[in-house]
Amino acid sequence: MHVNRQYVLANRPVGPIQETDLAYRESPVPVPGPEEVLVKTAYISLDPSMKGQMEARTDYTAPQALGEVMRARAVGTIIQSSNPRHPVGAQVFGFFGMQDFAVTDGRRIPFHQYSVPVDPEVALGLLGGTGMTAYFGMLDIGRPRRGDTVVVSGAAGATGSIAGQLARLRGARVIGIAGTAEKCSVLREELGFDEALNYREDNLSEGLDAMCPHGIDVFFDNVGGEILDLCLARLAQRARVVICGGISRYNATTLPPGPVNYFNLVYRRARMEGFILSDYSARFDEARTALQSWHASGVVRQRSTVVRGFDKLPNALVRLFDGANTGKMMVRTD
Ligand SMILES: NC(=O)c1ccc[n+]([C@@H]2O[C@H](COP(=O)([O-])OP(=O)(O)OC[C@H]3O[C@@H](n4cnc5c(N)ncnc54)[C@H](OP(=O)(O)O)[C@@H]3O)[C@@H](O)[C@H]2O)c1
Repeated sequence: MHVNRQYVLANRPVGPIQETDLAYRESPVPVPGPEEVLVKTAYISLDPSMKGQMEARTDYTAPQALGEVMRARAVGTIIQSSNPRHPVGAQVFGFFGMQDFAVTDGRRIPFHQYSVPVDPEVALGLLGGTGMTAYFGMLDIGRPRRGDTVVVSGAAGATGSIAGQLARLRGARVIGIAGTAEKCSVLREELGFDEALNYREDNLSEGLDAMCPHGIDVFFDNVGGEILDLCLARLAQRARVVICGGISRYNATTLPPGPVNYFNLVYRRARMEGFILSDYSARFDEARTALQSWHASGVVRQRSTVVRGFDKLPNALVRLFDGANTGKMMVRTD
C-alpha cells in the first residue's frame, strides 16, 4: 500500500453523528524516525465516546481538533521499527486512529505490545478498552457478591456483555437489558445471563419487579435516562450503581431532566459512582491477565460485530448508535 487512508473529523455533530462528519483523506505513509515504529492497523474500534470527542465535549481528554485524524483504538502489527524493544511483527493495541498507518515512539501514542499474538477481535474487545472498562467498573465499583442481583443496561454491547459475565463469575444473578429479542437470546443462551429484558418491547417495570423481587444490589449502567430511573426505584439496601455510560443522552440536543428516583440512594443507603477507564491505567496489566485467563478457560466469552472494509468506518460509527452491534463493534480495514 502506498498511501495512508485516513478519516479526519470534518464537522462537529449536532444531534446524531452523520457519515459526512468524517472526511476521507489520503496521505503519504509516514516514515518512522529514531526510536519509532510504523504500525499497520488491522481492526479499528468504534466507541460511543467518539461522539463526545467529536463534539469536543469531554473534559478527560484534549479536544479532538477539526481536520485531525479521528481518534480510535486499533489493533495492528509493527511493520517497521527503529526501536529494539518493539520488533517488527509484534501485535500492538493503542489509539492509532482511523487510518492504515501510524508512527509512534510509544510515548506520543502509547500502546500495549502483546508478547504472543492473540485473536485481534479479543485484543480489541475483551482485552481492549471495553473489556477493561467492564473489569474495573463491575469488579472495583460494583463489587458483586454471591447471591446478589445485578442488572446491566446496554447488556449486549461491548462493555455490558463482559460486565454481566464478570458478575456471574462472582456468583451473582444477572439480568441484562438490551434492544432486540435476538440480543436477549444471545445474553441468555451464549453469555450465561440468567434473564434478559428487551427495553423496546417488554414492560421494563413489570419485568424488573418480577426478576428482582428483593431489589437490585448492583446496577451497571451504560444507558442512563428512563432505564436508570427504573433501576434506581428498585435498589436493594447498600446497592451500588455504577455509572459507566449514558448512551441514551449522547444524541440529545436538549438534555432530559435528572432521574426522579435518585432519592432512593438515601432510603437504601446506596452509592452511585461514575468512573473513567484511563484512571486505572496503572492496573491495565492486571485486568488483561485476568480477562485473558478467564477467556482461555471459557468462562468469559467475547462477542463482536466485524464490519469489513476501511470505507465502512463512518457508517459503522453511525450504526453503533442504532444498535447494529452485538458485542464489540469494529471495522476490519482490509
Ligand atoms: N466510563 C468509561 O470509562 C467508559 C469506557 C468505555 C465505554 N463507556 C460507556 O459505556 C457504554 C457502552 O459502550 P460500548 O463501547 O460498550 O458500546 P456498545 O454497548 O457496544 O454499543 C452501544 C449500544 O448502545 C445501545 N443503545 C444505543 N442507543 C440507546 C438508547 N437510546 N437506549 C438504550 N440503549 C441504546 C445499542 O444497543 P441496543 O440494541 O441494546 O439498543 C448499542 O449497540 C457507552 O455509554 C460508553 O460511553 C464508558
